[in-house]
Amino acid sequence: MFKVFLLVAITASLFPGTVQLHCCIPSQLETYIDELSFVPGGRGSTVVQNMSYDAVTKRNAFHVFGDSIHDEYDAIIDYRANMSYSWAKGVCNVTYAGPFHEICFTGGKLVRKSFMGVYPDIIKLNTYLISSERFRWSITVGKTCTPVELRRQNDDFLNLMRFYNMTVGIRDESVFTPPKICSKKESRVPKTFQTPLFYRSTAMRGQFP
Ligand SMILES: *[C@@H]1O[C@H](CO)[C@@H](O)[C@H](O)[C@H]1NC(C)=O
Ligand SMILES: *[C@@H]1O[C@H](CO)[C@@H](O)[C@H](O)[C@H]1NC(C)=O
Ligand SMILES: *[C@@H]1O[C@H](CO)[C@@H](O)[C@H](O)[C@H]1NC(C)=O
Ligand SMILES: *[C@@H]1O[C@H](CO)[C@@H](O)[C@H](O)[C@H]1NC(C)=O
Repeated sequence: MFKVFLLVAITASLFPGTVQLHCCIPSQLETYIDELSFVPGGRGSTVVQNMSYDAVTKRNAFHVFGDSIHDEYDAIIDYRANMSYSWAKGVCNVTYAGPFHEICFTGGKLVRKSFMGVYPDIIKLNTYLISSERFRWSITVGKTCTPVELRRQNDDFLNLMRFYNMTVGIRDESVFTPPKICSKKESRVPKTFQTPLFYRSTAMRGQFP
């Protein structure tokens, strides 16, 4: 006899959306994020990163893993000090951080309750929908607003972010300390820092529907 291992068992029920979403992700967490993007006629692209997010000290650090398409790099956005650093291959770019926004979701309609995992390790998930002029957003969160999946799409674009291996709290504060190469004066470049999409799209309260 063999056992059937269900890696992901999702049971879903659809029901009218009356419950509104309003929550902020845990104020301190470490997580991995896979970000998949698809455009018609193009090849899908995946970016894998891990991130430490600290709304208490207003700092965010992430590491983007390199692959055949993307270069590896690290970044720290220290909003408290209004400084951001990104570095790769011994070169560090330093610029301003701009204002800090907590990552919160508002205004979504509950469209699905589901369950993920293998018994007895089952977690309950809620999925909310938000429609803006340009995109349809689908936001799946677990208990205490832990992000599980963010989907952003329109007729010819899909962006999917999956969060996994997440822990609440910051175990390693050192991720927020920039390396020595970042304190060299010549590394300061007056350029606008490209924050990762997850941050761009969710952190800007005004912009997030
Ligand atoms: C990403 O994960 C690596 C390996 O576990 C770890 O060394 C690094 O500190 C993490 N980076 C962030 C920003 O959490
Ligand atoms: C640093 O800035 C240069 C010039 O704008 C850019 O080409 C490079 O990708 C940046 N590196 C990182 C790690 O942000
Ligand atoms: C960060 O520094 C820049 C340049 O000095 C400044 O224009 C901006 O207002 C500062 N932002 C915050 C949030 O302090
Ligand atoms: C999960 O996270 C821990 C700590 O951040 C890290 O050491 C480990 O490599 C991660 N596992 C995977 C599969 O990414």
